[in-house]
Amino acid sequence: MDTYVVTGKKPLMGSVSVHGSKNSVLPILAATILARGESVIHNCPALRDVFAMAEILECLGCRVKYQEGSMIVDATDLSRSDISDCLMQEMRASVLFLGPLLARTGEAEMSCPGGCALGPRPIDLHIKALEELGADIADRDGRLICRAARLSGRKIVLELPSVGATENAMLAAVGAQGTTVICNAAREPEIVDLQEFLKSMGAKVWGAGGATVVVEGGVQLHPGEYTVMSDRIVTATYLSAVASAGGEVELLGADYRTVAPVIAALTEAGCAIQSLGNRIWIQSHTPLRNIRSIYTAPYPGFPTDAQPVLMAALAGGTGKTEFIETIFENRFSHVEGLCRMGADIQVDGIRAIVRGCALRGAELEAYDLRGGAALVVAALGAEGESRIGGLGYIDRGYAALEDTLCSLGADIFRFREPDTYGLEALEPGLSTFEPLKVAGGEG
Ligand code: UD1
Repeated sequence: MDTYVVTGKKPLMGSVSVHGSKNSVLPILAATILARGESVIHNCPALRDVFAMAEILECLGCRVKYQEGSMIVDATDLSRSDISDCLMQEMRASVLFLGPLLARTGEAEMSCPGGCALGPRPIDLHIKALEELGADIADRDGRLICRAARLSGRKIVLELPSVGATENAMLAAVGAQGTTVICNAAREPEIVDLQEFLKSMGAKVWGAGGATVVVEGGVQLHPGEYTVMSDRIVTATYLSAVASAGGEVELLGADYRTVAPVIAALTEAGCAIQSLGNRIWIQSHTPLRNIRSIYTAPYPGFPTDAQPVLMAALAGGTGKTEFIETIFENRFSHVEGLCRMGADIQVDGIRAIVRGCALRGAELEAYDLRGGAALVVAALGAEGESRIGGLGYIDRGYAALEDTLCSLGADIFRFREPDTYGLEALEPGLSTFEPLKVAGGEG
């Protein structure tokens, strides 16, 4: 994998755009198979996970093109309903094909998805929801064999407001006869985006953004066209980067409402942040101050995906801040790297106590997507040079991160490992895509 070389302490100045949301576009791409014909997804970020999703679509028989930031998926000739182990291991979001495959073909076969880097990530809620709708799901030697002669609308009560399970239930429910009511649904903005895309296909769905989502199924769907929302975790990352390095930056195409808890935390830490329309301005004079405890929680709480980047910014600040990670186990993979930079962080189970101090550059390794981004955030605020390996993880969720940061005045350089993988070869066709063979990761 490639390596970043970052020389810190360069204030970030200027204006950058936030790209489309990874977590929004992945379920939307899965949804394209619900109808024959050509769906068009705009503001589709050029990310490793997005192209992995496109690879699965191609294997299922769809024709996929990526053109000027739009993904065009023609699902007319969908000819398969099984996904290979190799593609399933590429990322967790591959499980989002379960619902739409059942809805379109009445069957689906796949292994449990990858994505174990954040601790155990079961899919029991996905399976339970689909069984409620009438699917018969068996586990044969680690492969899930799913059949549904007919899906029927039902009331589904999720034990946890799981984002993926809510999405899978919605995707299957549009193909079910009758009305499905999903209770204790996840309320994340990406669920609203999925609802809006499904509506563009003619589906009758409402309630997304609240705890109850209602789907009136059995409606004939047609291809959809949709522009995905901006990425709120990328927004949180850029805000944290400016907070860490200092400077003054304008984020374009960013929705402050989706990052309100992150803005509140950074404001408490001493940053000046304003927003108008789809712009956010941040001004940071380092060092940051300590803040009240951060508890990660389902939306609209503090996002677990933004915990590592905020921690990285505060690690180089002053005073003591407590982080409590309530969503995922093993979500402190970045702490080891931060400590190599001189950070004072004590982890005890789901709790991390950060005592801010001056950081210095170090040899670092990314172990997951947001943990990797956190190392970049810390390196931008640290004295001297850092080298960050494992960029394949960061590429899953950040398009051209180094170009964006360089345009703001950061000193960051990507040292390319020849032939490790071929992102450059992706456009405009996708057929040369080589999946990254990793054990897990977010998504
Ligand atoms: C999605 C996001 C991920 C984010 C997470 C929480 C995508 C592609 N990924 O992941 O970036 O960190 O939401 O905001 O959108 N759980 C179960 N059983 C299940 C499903 C989930 O116990 O069947 C648990 C998980 O282990 C976790 C919690 O529920 O502890 C939340 O997971 P979930 O909301 O499902 O996250 P993902 O959809 O995987």
